[in-house]
Amino acid sequence: MNRLDFQRMHDDGHKITMVTCYDYWTAAIVAKSNVDCLLVGDSVAMVMHGFDTTVAATVDMMVMHTKAVAKGANNKFIVTDLPFLSYRKSLDAVMDVVQAIMQAGAHAVKLEGVYGNENLIEHLVTSGVPVMGHIGLTPQYMHQLGGFKVQGRDMATANSLIEQAKLLQTLGCFAIVLECIPRTLADTITQQLSIPTIGIGAGEKTSGQVLVLQDLIGSNDSAYKFVKQYTKIHQDLLQALNQYDSEVKTVTFPSTEHCFEAKV
Ligand code: KIV
Repeated sequence: MNRLDFQRMHDDGHKITMVTCYDYWTAAIVAKSNVDCLLVGDSVAMVMHGFDTTVAATVDMMVMHTKAVAKGANNKFIVTDLPFLSYRKSLDAVMDVVQAIMQAGAHAVKLEGVYGNENLIEHLVTSGVPVMGHIGLTPQYMHQLGGFKVQGRDMATANSLIEQAKLLQTLGCFAIVLECIPRTLADTITQQLSIPTIGIGAGEKTSGQVLVLQDLIGSNDSAYKFVKQYTKIHQDLLQALNQYDSEVKTVTFPSTEHCFEAKV
């Protein structure tokens, strides 16, 4: 999978699948799956480090997690998020950030929003860095947006999102994430673009879908409306931990099969 395959799949009407991935061991499992693409999302700050928002993600964090994912899944296309404000400083500063992320193993970067990023996106694309856009609910803007809320429900913001998507395409983005917008709007945007759209909480008409891996495996008891839990790892892991605890305390583990014997 590479940037061109995104376009080919979209043109051929094949849905694209993407999941977030932050570490070596889950990357090694995803590497064996049919999932097309991995996102080292800045959601790592929340999912793996326990922060309340993605504002806490840092360049060092993104580089470290990208390296781990690239080691585990060197057969997959890897997109890494540019973290909060790292691309809103000088062009020199962001080019250092992108260099570090690409040299850590990413094949593309994703950034949120459009306005103020125009020159940067063009510069990255002409420098050989594939760029994925991200509009709708952009979590790095959550303080500006007043929280994690569905976007584009009224005509004015819907029209603005259509314009933003078109501008991202003109600037050279190879794909755009549409997060938490009405399904009809996601459909309209997808139809008006030639590049693929990847939806999360944006309905079924986008060119592909992305989910946070820990959400789809049920690492929490509860889930957002747009998440489907394909397994219940939370319950399975708890059950395994409690069984281990009980077996150690009742001296059922280790049993003979887990013990070494002396040769004499
Ligand atoms: O960081 C992330 O997980 C993301 C997805 C929600 C698209 O950006």
